[in-house]
Amino acid sequence: MAHDERPADASIFVTRSFLPPQAEYQAWLDKVYASHVLTNLGPVHRELENNLRERFAVPHFRLMANGTLALQLAIRALGVTGKVITTPFSYVATTSAILWEGCEPVFVDIDPRTGCIDAALIEAAITPDTTAILATHVYGIPCDVEAIDTIAKKHGLKVIYDAAHAFDVNYKGRSILQWGDASTLSFHATKLFHTVEGGAVVLHDGEADKRLRLLRSFGHVYDEHFTLGMNAKMSELHAAMGMAVLPHMEHIIAERAALSQRYDRLLEGLGTERPHVAADTTYNYAYYPIFLRDSAEREGMLQALADQGIHARRYFFPSLDTLPYVSATACPRSRDLADRALCLPLYNGLTPADHERICAGVSAFLEQHRKRVPNNVVQP
Ligand SMILES: Cc1ncc(COP(=O)(O)O)c(C=O)c1O
Repeated sequence: MAHDERPADASIFVTRSFLPPQAEYQAWLDKVYASHVLTNLGPVHRELENNLRERFAVPHFRLMANGTLALQLAIRALGVTGKVITTPFSYVATTSAILWEGCEPVFVDIDPRTGCIDAALIEAAITPDTTAILATHVYGIPCDVEAIDTIAKKHGLKVIYDAAHAFDVNYKGRSILQWGDASTLSFHATKLFHTVEGGAVVLHDGEADKRLRLLRSFGHVYDEHFTLGMNAKMSELHAAMGMAVLPHMEHIIAERAALSQRYDRLLEGLGTERPHVAADTTYNYAYYPIFLRDSAEREGMLQALADQGIHARRYFFPSLDTLPYVSATACPRSRDLADRALCLPLYNGLTPADHERICAGVSAFLEQHRKRVPNNVVQP
């Protein structure tokens, strides 16, 4: 059997990292070997940084060791302190970065159609201690950036977008990374564009960018120490993977768009809800979430698929206002969505046979489940 052929009943995971042809990665590794520079912002790192800065047309683009440190250092570089308004429907790193930087997360509930923070609820949560808004472009779907911008300007708040899912997402013809005071990205192996482990911070202010560069490299330049810093640098080997993946991005997104549209067709008529993407958005097809009717239906489907070796993912789960180490007002919409959302497998190379297997599993479960539990029956 060729190495990329799969037995018909093999497990299907929610994602599978894209790997560029090995010779292409090797060509970048050859450059690293030739330079003998393995890290400390070497030539491949510089090339990737410049490339991505130009791609997104942003003034400052800095690579980081991962997306979590990107969040932490963005918070610190912008001088954010006190209370940070944030979303409970995100990956835990969005909240933990706020806490790690000694700030207090204040959760504002979400717009259940998109999963993003509900901008209409933000103003009521602002107090004199609030200094920033940290919101996530959930599944790569843009937040209501215009409304957030207006509120932030009115109240003198910084805006940071967790754009971990938003590589190559455009809104009204421009990169979504052009909004806010900062955006952070994750280039983890499971992300659309990846460097195995990695991330980035986009900033629009030169002084903040200067601070960020110091924070990323121990706070010193040669022997002169300026500030408390840390090590958040990306290595040359990681940057090399980024350079090898980058030329494939158009193809990666096109294939995922086709897979998503195929899901839409195969699941049509089953009554599964999909998140709403604003009309002016060029989407990147980072995930394929469906929203089920309730927690019982979602958990049942997760298990039914797992029984057939199909591993979907509850994402995001749990709602971050339930974390045991935060004190938060309950966010019922986020809790409800965290109980109903399920990301189906989506990755480059997902075969038509696997695709059909997943959809048959979803469809068979829903048919049985909805016969057992019709819509108007309230579960005890
Ligand atoms: C929304 C979001 N924020 C932050 C992160 C953290 O990124 P990383 O895993 O690169 O540290 C992730 C990914 O894991 C994420 O999905």
